[in-house]
Amino acid sequence: MNAERILILREKLDRPIVLIGMMGTGKTKIGAMLARALDLEFVDSDDEIQRAAGCSVSEIFERFGEASFRDGEKRVLKRLISDAPKVIATGGGAVTNAETAQLIWDDAISVWLKADLAVLLERVGRTDRRPLLKNGDPAKILAELLEKREPIYARADITVDSSTGDADALVNEILERVETVLATKAFAQKKNAQT
Ligand code: S3P
Repeated sequence: MNAERILILREKLDRPIVLIGMMGTGKTKIGAMLARALDLEFVDSDDEIQRAAGCSVSEIFERFGEASFRDGEKRVLKRLISDAPKVIATGGGAVTNAETAQLIWDDAISVWLKADLAVLLERVGRTDRRPLLKNGDPAKILAELLEKREPIYARADITVDSSTGDADALVNEILERVETVLATKAFAQKKNAQT
C-alpha cells in the first residue's frame, strides 16, 4: 500500500488494531511492523502484564494460576483498547475470557493471525517461556488449544494466514483489509462520534 493511502487510513483509524491468534503466529513481530507502517504505538499485552505484576508470565501462572493471569490480561486490554488508536498484540488465550473477547469485538479492529499446527510447533519450540506448554507434549497441547480456540478466533474482523513467513506481504494484506473493514463495518461502539 502506498504512503498516501496509508496516511488516509491512519487518519480514519478511530480504534486500535488488535492481533489475536495462537502462540507462535507472529503477533508481536507482525504487530510491531504494522504499527511502524502506520506510525502508531505498538503494545504487547503480555509485556504490559509483566510490567504491572513485576514478574514473568510463567511466574504469574505458577504463583497465582491461569485465572488470575486472565483477569490481569482483561484489565490491561480494557485500558489499552479504551486508549488512543494503536496496534496491540494479545496473548494467545486472551479471547478465551468472554469479557475480554467482547471488548475486542466491540471496540477494536480484530485480526486473527492463523497458522498451521506444524508451523506453530516449529516456532514455539524455539523458547521455553510458555507455561501452558510446560506440562505435557507440546504438539498435543497445541492441537487441543487450537481446536478449542479456533471458533473464537474465527469471529475476528480479519483473518490472515501467517504460515508463509513473508512478513512484508502479510502487513500489506492486513493494511488493505483494515481499510475495507473501516469502510464497511458498522461498529457497535462508535468512536469520536459527533454529538
Ligand atoms: C498464552 C499465550 C502467551 C501468554 C501465556 C498464555 C495462551 O502469549 O499470554 O503464556 O494461553 O495461549 P503468546 O500468544 O504471545 O505466546
